[in-house]
Amino acid sequence: MTWNISDKELAGLLTQMSIEEKVAMVSGHGLWRTVANYRLNIPELLMTDGTYGVRYSIEQIDGAHDADNQLASFLSVVNTDLSTGVDSAFGSTRPATCFPNGSSLACSWDLDLAYELGEALAAECQAFGVNILLGPGVNIRRTPLAGRSYEYYAEDPLLTGDIAAAVISGLQRNGVGASLKHFACNNSEVQRTTMSSVVEERALREIYLAGFERAIRKSDPWTVMSSYNRLNDVQTAEDHWLLTEVLRDEWGYDGVVVSDWHGIKDRPASMNAGNDLDMPESGSRKQELLTAVEDGQVSMETLDRSCLRILKLVRLARNGVKPNAEADFQKHHALSRRMAAESIVLLKNENASLPLLPEKLKRITVVGAAAVEPVIQGSGCATTRPTEVDIPLEEIRKRAPGVDIDYHTVADFEAGGSSEAVALAAVDAADAVLFFANTEVGYDGEGSDRKHLNLHDGQDALIERLSARKSKVVVILATPDAVVMPWADHVAAVLVAFFGGQGAGSAIADVLFGSQNPSGKLTVTFPVQVEDIPGYLTYPGEGNRHIYSEGIHVGYRFYDKRKLTPLFPFGFGLSYTSFEYSNLSVDADRIDASSTITLAFDITNTGSVAGKEIAQVYARPHQPRLIRPIRELKGFAKVSLEPGETKRVEIKIESRDLRYYDPQYRRWLLDAGSLTFEVGASSRDIRLERTVEVEAAALASTVLNVESQPFLVFEHEFARQRFRAFLKQRLDLSDQEADKMLEYCAGSFLGIHKTVAWVAGETISKAEMAAFLDSLNKEMGMTLIKAA
Ligand code: BGC
Repeated sequence: MTWNISDKELAGLLTQMSIEEKVAMVSGHGLWRTVANYRLNIPELLMTDGTYGVRYSIEQIDGAHDADNQLASFLSVVNTDLSTGVDSAFGSTRPATCFPNGSSLACSWDLDLAYELGEALAAECQAFGVNILLGPGVNIRRTPLAGRSYEYYAEDPLLTGDIAAAVISGLQRNGVGASLKHFACNNSEVQRTTMSSVVEERALREIYLAGFERAIRKSDPWTVMSSYNRLNDVQTAEDHWLLTEVLRDEWGYDGVVVSDWHGIKDRPASMNAGNDLDMPESGSRKQELLTAVEDGQVSMETLDRSCLRILKLVRLARNGVKPNAEADFQKHHALSRRMAAESIVLLKNENASLPLLPEKLKRITVVGAAAVEPVIQGSGCATTRPTEVDIPLEEIRKRAPGVDIDYHTVADFEAGGSSEAVALAAVDAADAVLFFANTEVGYDGEGSDRKHLNLHDGQDALIERLSARKSKVVVILATPDAVVMPWADHVAAVLVAFFGGQGAGSAIADVLFGSQNPSGKLTVTFPVQVEDIPGYLTYPGEGNRHIYSEGIHVGYRFYDKRKLTPLFPFGFGLSYTSFEYSNLSVDADRIDASSTITLAFDITNTGSVAGKEIAQVYARPHQPRLIRPIRELKGFAKVSLEPGETKRVEIKIESRDLRYYDPQYRRWLLDAGSLTFEVGASSRDIRLERTVEVEAAALASTVLNVESQPFLVFEHEFARQRFRAFLKQRLDLSDQEADKMLEYCAGSFLGIHKTVAWVAGETISKAEMAAFLDSLNKEMGMTLIKAA
């Protein structure tokens, strides 16, 4: 049923609604719906998870909305133990395509593919009658230990924002709304509803909020979901600064803010902060809100505003419905394979051990349970009950029909006696050992962070042991995020699929045997050891506060600044071919705040097979005014090349993306001076570079006050001249005397007022000096507004 209703009619409806009806409208109905209002003919809408597949719980959505059972039913999903098998865990969930999870898909750096994912998810939502899918999740992968990092895309906000925008556009252009989540700083699952992420404003703006802002600007999601955690000691669902000042006033967002499920602790406070919709239904929270409106603690205007936003959302949702839609699950399975194939990252390939050539092999030994029970997704509310699952061992057998392939579990090697002897003999006789490794299943998911970065039970030790016997051990990893690899130097090849979805088994086999040339690149840094993780010293927080001690230096920004060698750097991934970069040009040598600069360069496939290369552009400011990372990602492109082929690649970069945030000025600013654009195959493999000049206001390092050291006042000629004129006039000085005075002041470590008073007495009062400096600040502020 569509709902053709004009804005005027919607406003009219609002005037007819009672307070109770409005309160019901801004609260959920059951676990997954908004409320229908039969008196006024207002329809409902239906939402469900998740971030890489549709989780349609038959009992919860189609069953009776029995309030007593709701919470238990909801928690049973969040706490589901996937290790007991997807079927038993999701028996009451409709089968839907399980696509590669966020941390996997992002390695494709492929925005067209991300859009296709959105389209496919929309088609399945349409077939199930779902109006809003509760994703994508775009929190920054600050630490690989984070339980939900498998849902999220990257440690970098630009890449995160671009992928999210593509997924959202794919969904929403097909009539299904997105929920950009979890706003903001849900970067760990430790005490996730009480822990406060304590983040300095620059890091918030430049890293943690930036991905959300980018996705919102590019794709305008229907809803944004506030997170469970507190941010700088305020519950995000109740944070007026976050939900109103930043999200709406600064970014101009006009959609609905929905709470995370039971994330609201104080409903009136959340309503006043700008959290429109409270999910799921809670009788007590509805009552709290009703009382607060009656008491005037929440104004009718505030309630009306949220109510109207939700009515508009319901209209959008109803009008997006495609009646009798059917999803083509076979096509989507093929898409899940293609996505996995584009996302697999080849991390090591000693002596071109891969691809395997079946005609040259007699025996392959496959090790690890994940070869027969593939680990394709994380656990928690994002999980999907797959329509079908490609089994790696079967796929391998299909691609190497003449090869003798045997399979052993890790336990076989620990069994002692004849089983162990058989397994070891198989390894010794094999031409290649394919080791399917994984992290603990069911643990690394929603609700709990990992405790370490090792593989599950004994796998690290067994890989080490087998690689001491066999030169060709190929490790295939299914992990939520980075793992450590104590055995990395001793194995022949490593590839990582992360949680690659239901088609990963086939994609892995294609990569192993070369019908797919791997082209994925990492979207996070892999540390050598857990202690190298940025923020390690203050993780996971204590006393309900988690201080993000690395500030803006998240991920590669940290490893670069500290000159730490990672196990594998951000942006890294190998191919079966090789690429050369050349002829970098930029279309302007000077840029300013309104520029869009185009970089162009050639990439040549210098190897013997077709392949894709993901080229990255980083910006490196030479003399930043504030502390800044050495380099930051500013653009990327993925190019497909036949052997010998050269293509010219163009990447456009807007000046706005080159800015940093100055909390003192409360503005985004451009650094004046030289800036080098680096074009690289990874963040640690820069191939070409070009320096341009940035024209921007040269700003004082700090906002000036009477205690500022004089050198700060003289930092810029403009301010120095103003100050000189002020002294001349107030102290009645000649030109020569004024210059002497400035010279004297320049060497003082005392504040500017005390310094002047020391020589000239109290002629200029503190208040007068303060007023002068304020006007100087303002003058520079004016310049600032123009420049930024
Ligand atoms: C999760 C959200 C999810 C919601 C509904 C919460 O526990 O944090 O990501 O969308 O539940 O299942």
